[in-house]
Order: sequence, then C-alpha cells, then structure tokens
Amino acid sequence: MQLEILPLSTPKNKIADESQLVFGKQFSDRMFVMEFDRGRGWHSARIQPYGPFSLEPAAMVLHYSQEIFEGLKAFRRADGAIALFRPKDNIARFNRSAKRMCMPEVDEQFFLDALLELIRLEADWVPRSAGTSLYIRPTMIASEPMLGVRPADQYLCYIILSPVGAYYKGGIAPVKIWISDHYVRAAHGGTGEAKTGGNYAASLMAAKEAAENGYDQVLWLDARQKKYVEEVGSMNMLFLYDGKIVTSPLNGTVLDGITRRSVLQLLVDRGYQIEERALSIDEVMEGAENGRLAEAFGTGTAVVISPVGSFCYKNRCVQIGNGKTGELTMKIYQELTDIQYGRQPDKYHWVMPV
Ligand code: COI
Repeated sequence: MQLEILPLSTPKNKIADESQLVFGKQFSDRMFVMEFDRGRGWHSARIQPYGPFSLEPAAMVLHYSQEIFEGLKAFRRADGAIALFRPKDNIARFNRSAKRMCMPEVDEQFFLDALLELIRLEADWVPRSAGTSLYIRPTMIASEPMLGVRPADQYLCYIILSPVGAYYKGGIAPVKIWISDHYVRAAHGGTGEAKTGGNYAASLMAAKEAAENGYDQVLWLDARQKKYVEEVGSMNMLFLYDGKIVTSPLNGTVLDGITRRSVLQLLVDRGYQIEERALSIDEVMEGAENGRLAEAFGTGTAVVISPVGSFCYKNRCVQIGNGKTGELTMKIYQELTDIQYGRQPDKYHWVMPV
C-alpha cells in the first residue's frame, strides 16, 4: 500500500506558552488515515489535514462500540532530536486489541512507517519544555452503516497527535485514589485487557463518585470477589510492600501496560524482587497503616509515573508513607524520563529515533 501525503493549506497556531498545554485539548495540523473494506482490505492510506470525518449516523461504532485505541508519545530530546518510546510494543498491542474486538489487524511495519512519516511532518508540534511531549493516539472504529449486531465490514483507522503537558494538573504530585466497592471494570473473559473505549465509558460512574468525594481516580478491584487490586484505568498500579514490588498479574482483566513493563525492568535492574500476584485490598489498607506498604504508584503512557498519596475504601482512608512522593517512585520517574528524553543512554533499546 502506498502512503499519500495530501497538502496542508492553513497551518494552525501553536500554543506559544507550553506551560499552558492541557492534556489532549489541542491537535496538530495533520493526521494519518486509512480505510478498510472486507474483500479489499486496508486501502487509501494518507496523511491529510486534521479535521472532522463524515460518518453515517448508523456507523456501527456509534451503536455497538466496536472501537480500539492506543497511546504513545514522541519526546523532544536534549539534543533537539525527536524519539518515540517503544512504538512497536504499542502497535503490537493495537493488533491484540483488534483481534479481541473482531476488527482487522494492521500491517505493523506499514503502520510504524506511516507513524514515523507523520511525526516527521509534524515535528514542530513536539514541544520543548520540561515534562512535555507529543501524545500519539492511534484509533480504529467500525464505520459501516448497519444496525445488526455483528463485526463491521468497514473500518476507519487513524492517528492524531496532541502536544501535552502533565496528565494530572499537579504534574508529579501524589494523587488521591478512591477504591470502588460497588462498580467493577473488567471480569474474566471480558474485554479488560483490550484498549477499547467501552472499558473507559464503563468507568465514568465510579470516577464521578470518586470526584464527588474529593478523590482523583478509581482503583478497581477484581469483579468476582471485589477483593484483589487490579488497575486504575489510566494506569497500572505498583506497590512497594515489605521492600518488594507487588503488582497485579496480567490475567486478562488488566491492561498490559508498556510503561508497567518498562518500570518493572528498571526495578529488576535495581535489584528489586517483583511479585506479580493477587494483592488484597485488606493488605493495602493494613500495609498503609502499619508501614509495610511504603510506596504506591501508577504507571501509564499519559501519566508516566503517578505517586499515590492516599487510598479510601469503604469510608476508611489511609495515607501512604508521609503522603508525599516516595523516594523510589521519584527515582524511577527520573530514570524512565531520563531515557525517554535522551538525558541518559538507552541500554534497553526502547527509544526509536524519528
Ligand atoms: C495512556 O496512558 O496513553 C492511556 O491511554 C490512558 C488514557 C485513558 C489517557
């Protein structure tokens, strides 16, 4: 398949003061688009000006949520060059999500090449200030107009770009986490592991409950017993418990986070023992109170590393450590971002120059 580059007539104004960048509010000038028809496969791959699609009201994504997405970032490095972080891992996960949602897979090399071309064309949109990056959002939707419930025969796949600052307003500052004892995010056999919009839509009610109680995010427990820690929707959770790192296993209900994977590697190399095991909410609450749980933090592309200051579960609220960013959390944030921004050598080969 050929990649066509369509002309851009009116470039947008960029935000001059990068400290004003809000996560996911502004989009670059161009986007990548390709279309799929059963029988013909993927076709009409192009880079075109960013703008609205024309979609029939009967498009299947609007009714049955056949949709997947990804999140990765391009970083402006210390020497001014641009690099992506583990893009092949994101594209592979995009295809795993596609499979789960009965959607067509993409050619991984073609998709990566198209992404690199898009970033090269939009290089000026990669911000330069500390803590900023260009967030990349590959997406696929079922575009066929049809009201029967079955996998669609037509799809639209696209990549949009958004220059971003910190995901949370406070930057790397401890967040307050609400633990839902009523709502659940994912059950075994469900779609928890896939990066699909429905998982996020289903999380909104609990997030509203958390916000009404003054909390920032929701930590989900397993759907069967509502006992074991799973993830926070926008991030995987890691706990420094009795000096070891404890995190939920990837058993189908938790997203296989690429930042999670990277951070676990950094921790192993620092000599930490990793326990991928079921961690009960009782252990978390008691551990916070008796000090066995020294630090807790989330990992994700958008959030990078997000320290947890407190948990609240069934009206019992506990502080983690002194409620501030833990020492290990800070070191891992520094180490990971040093690799991403090219301040330290990348012995892991995670970074791909654009
Ligand atoms: C990401 O971290 O890239 C995500 O996709 C989480 C998103 C809900 C902001």
